[in-house]
Amino acid sequence: MDRQKAQARIQELTHQLNEHNYNYYVLNQPTISDFEFDMLLKELEQLEKDFPEFAGVNSPTQRVGSDLSKDFEQVPHKYPMLSLANAYSEGEVADFDNRIRKVIETDFEYVCELKFDGSSISLIYENGELVRAVTRGDGEKGDDVTANVRTIRSIPLKLRGNDYPASFEIRGEVLMPFKVFNDLNKELEEAGEQLLANPRNTAAGTLKMKNAKVVAARKLDAYLYYILGENLSIDGHYESLQKAKEWGFKISDHTNICKNLDEVFDFLRYWDKERFNLPVATDGVVIKVNSKKIQENLGFTAKSPRWAIAFKFKAENAATKLLSVSYQVGRTGAVTPVANLEPVLIAGTVVKRASLHNADIIANLDLHENDTVFVEKGGEIIPKITGVDVSQRPPMSRKIEFIKNCPECGTQLVRTEGEAAFYCPNDDGCPPQIKGKMEHFVSRKAMDIDGLGEETIELLYSQGLVNGITDLYNLTKEQLAGLDRMGEKSAERILNGLEASKSVPFERVLFALGIRFVGETVAKTLAKNLHSIENIQFKTKEELTAIDEIGDKIAESIVSYFSKPEHHEIIRVLKENGLQFAISEDKMVDKTDKLKGLNFVISGTFEKHSRDELKDMIEQNGGKNVGSISKKTSYVLAGDNMGPSKLEKANELGIPIISEDDFLKMLE
Ligand code: IVH
Repeated sequence: MDRQKAQARIQELTHQLNEHNYNYYVLNQPTISDFEFDMLLKELEQLEKDFPEFAGVNSPTQRVGSDLSKDFEQVPHKYPMLSLANAYSEGEVADFDNRIRKVIETDFEYVCELKFDGSSISLIYENGELVRAVTRGDGEKGDDVTANVRTIRSIPLKLRGNDYPASFEIRGEVLMPFKVFNDLNKELEEAGEQLLANPRNTAAGTLKMKNAKVVAARKLDAYLYYILGENLSIDGHYESLQKAKEWGFKISDHTNICKNLDEVFDFLRYWDKERFNLPVATDGVVIKVNSKKIQENLGFTAKSPRWAIAFKFKAENAATKLLSVSYQVGRTGAVTPVANLEPVLIAGTVVKRASLHNADIIANLDLHENDTVFVEKGGEIIPKITGVDVSQRPPMSRKIEFIKNCPECGTQLVRTEGEAAFYCPNDDGCPPQIKGKMEHFVSRKAMDIDGLGEETIELLYSQGLVNGITDLYNLTKEQLAGLDRMGEKSAERILNGLEASKSVPFERVLFALGIRFVGETVAKTLAKNLHSIENIQFKTKEELTAIDEIGDKIAESIVSYFSKPEHHEIIRVLKENGLQFAISEDKMVDKTDKLKGLNFVISGTFEKHSRDELKDMIEQNGGKNVGSISKKTSYVLAGDNMGPSKLEKANELGIPIISEDDFLKMLE
């Protein structure tokens, strides 16, 4: 393709992809399939690779993030990022209204909005393009997190329409939707990791991650609620938000004009209940005077505007006594502190325990023995301690210090720099870790061994019959039937279950090994890309991170797992017992209709698959193999030594040329 054509096509694709992004992430109304979207994106990526001079920083391809690490630069805010005064009752909202009416004698309107509980962000647009995104920081200056923010699909990189100001700032909240948060925690749980505390902290942490690729995978969302600039023509805050919506910003639909205090109260009462049905966390309602002229008249105090107030929803909470702190050791050795509380009723349930998450939380709370603590049951499932009533602290009570040694095996705990959790490093000798690994191994999503559960494992371990996963395959009927409350039938069931586990597919065996950070999804990715355990065991960190979706942390953990000879031995024994350590032939190609309607021409030689294999894969996935390039060709799948005439023909007709890796990605 010549330069001019390429430039035009890049522009066209950029426009189309921006439209589709907007339809999908802002309007929630996609008009094309994910697959079609990916195809357009791939075409753009290829063109930008071939003609890098036309690849802009705000291209839709930048949404996937780059792997470049960098420390964040601090930049000053043009207008300080202030906070809002809080109101905790309708009475306090009425006081706020009275204060305004003393100054403003004309009639005016309020705008009621949800108060999103995320991480605030300031976005700067110039000539319709996102140029900078800055965190709140200390209110005066924040971190430049532009590269990370570019990966948030609901934030427009280029604005729609043409009536936006040449230069302006828009502020809002970056959020992690509950669904994304819960899925992430599920993965962590499966990987035996410490769970994340709440979506707000996770969103804030994600924004500050150094790898934009990881940020992209975290699926953040953003709602915008405040426009600032010198020459903004619209007086109404509500009206300017509606305009911002036209420019492509995600503005909450739950934004209402309220003509008087009663209408404001209606909004508060409605959302106090209804907020639990929202996809993202909210912690109140922000009430703002609509007219910007009136806002200017009212002005600011040192800390917050006089024209707005945040009404905070009440989190259900109670005060109770801390009885003790106990420590649980998980399957991976992570030590989690748990507060044991005097039972207290919160939101209809009796709360006896609360997670303290990690040592930092205990230190930040400055928790002492026998403290009276405030316990809150917010949107999160696990109740949390939000504070200490210091006035109730018994004299001479001692500070709670995080334990130094494993409560189960006595080994000194370790903490990796940058990680919140303490770990017991004695992974092959610490009872809860040994048992935990076996429990994980037999669990439903792993080897799914019938008849073997937590209790049986406990029994087998305490009787000295098993001391690790490989021992499970040496169990005999006599040993099992001889156990308490176990008959011949149950023994047989377990042996059958163990036998059946020998045909459990490789990706689940890999997951079952219990390697840190190798959850179900990661195990699938590894199996799909590397096919067998031999291809994983001896890989370097760099080789592993070359695989899409395998980051530093996962790669390091895999390398560290295989740095221990005992682990190779485990695999040798399991292999000997007939477990699957490679993906089966027919798994290599998944039958799908992912390539339906697409015509491929294959040219050249390939690294990972033979031409015949590739042809089979095309057909297995609903695509068609064609011999020569024509207008009807969708893609040329090119390997090394592609014929020059084919190359010329493809370029002439503007047919995208894809590599073997591109092709394999299409099938993912
Ligand atoms: S307006 C000058 N509107 O709450 C005040 N803030 O406690 C501009 N927040 O820093 C803020 N939802 O991070 C505004 N609909 C909303 C909001 C909102 C959440 C956050 C924001 C602000 C904090 C103040």
